Amino acid sequence: MSIFVTGGAGFIGSNFVLDWLAQSNEPVITLDALTYAGNLENLASLDCDSRHIFVQGNICDRPLIDRLLAEHQPRVIVHFAAESHVDRSIHGPGEFMRTNIDGTFTLLEAARAYWSGLEGEAKAAFRFHHVSTDEVYGSLKPEDPPFAETNPYEPNSPYSASKAASDHLVRAWHHTYGLPVTTSNCSNNYGPYHFPEKLIPLMIANALAGKPLPIYGDGQQIRDWLYVTDHCSAIRAILDKGKVGEVYNVGGWNEMPNIEIVQTLIQLLDKLSPRADGKSYSEQITYVTDRPGHDRRYAIDARKIERELGWRPAETFQTGIRKTVEWYLANQAWVRNVQSGAYREWLALNYAARS
Ligand code: NAD
Ligand code: TYD
Repeated sequence: MSIFVTGGAGFIGSNFVLDWLAQSNEPVITLDALTYAGNLENLASLDCDSRHIFVQGNICDRPLIDRLLAEHQPRVIVHFAAESHVDRSIHGPGEFMRTNIDGTFTLLEAARAYWSGLEGEAKAAFRFHHVSTDEVYGSLKPEDPPFAETNPYEPNSPYSASKAASDHLVRAWHHTYGLPVTTSNCSNNYGPYHFPEKLIPLMIANALAGKPLPIYGDGQQIRDWLYVTDHCSAIRAILDKGKVGEVYNVGGWNEMPNIEIVQTLIQLLDKLSPRADGKSYSEQITYVTDRPGHDRRYAIDARKIERELGWRPAETFQTGIRKTVEWYLANQAWVRNVQSGAYREWLALNYAARS
């Protein structure tokens, strides 16, 4: 038995692979194209671990996926691979359409062919889990209730539109072909290995580097934050107990305006790693032009996964954000490698040596 993970060298995927192998001996095959966001350094602790097989490759490469599924016969596919950053999708949407839509289509077709060829218990037990986002539901007004699974899809950015399209494909492959799928739509994650282009790691890295902390617009946009290993445990719960064809919204009931997130980070950094001049990192806050089409508020109603699968987050925002800041302070070399692009050289050296 094994599981097949796409995008396992990215932020959430690498946390998932590490978390999985910390709790189970079931081998993991990771397929990742190692785009700018994929970083094998995240998985370095598995270098000599025979339970982990890493394959560099694209989810749009059907022959490669066919070969890997035939060779490893996984019982589960967990699909993380995606272009994931809203700002990048605004500046260059093409790659988002190729990976998030074409890539998901290719993976679904490969999964369908593989699953069709399975028999008996192996066929009955097979699952395709699609990892998606709350951004497919659009933007909430202040008086709206949080997003439930029944909310209509109203994606507003090229990123969320491409993820919405992928969700629809997954749904259709179940409805039409009977492929045993589950989908999770999760709120904003934070934690270790988060690429420093996203709000929380960018603010920590810029603060420590003495750079401006860029707040888009008025900073009152609201996101609902979940510590990354809580997302991993939600996916495990869905794989264990989720019902085929169902969608589960995942979130930690933790809505906060961006400016409060930044202030929380500043308070922690002022305490844990004070500026040399004794001033607060708040001096570095800089309001900048807003993101075009910026969604005002996301919030997740997580009652379904709590009620049906008994899932609860283990971290509060206070415990999770402290762990996150401590991780970034202890791993400044990781941030420097990512920012300088040195992780690509690390990759070339280490991966060439291993393969
Ligand atoms: P990420 O950008 O950190 O990682 C994406 C990974 O996918 C990278 O390792 C990258 O190399 C790989 N990848 C990209 N294109 C590929 C391709 N064509 N073939 C193979 N691999 C490819 O993203 P993340 O934040 O870890 O998000 C993972 C998934 O979770 C995505 O599907 C995203 O939509 C979803 N999600 C993210 C969040 C969040 O807050 N980050 C919240 C909810 C859902
Ligand atoms: P981000 O981490 O890009 O996630 P998403 O857009 O998928 O929610 O951004 C989180 C919020 O922080 C979002 O409202 C945009 C805002 N933001 C800033 O204000 N400044 C920044 O430099 C970044 C990257 C984001």
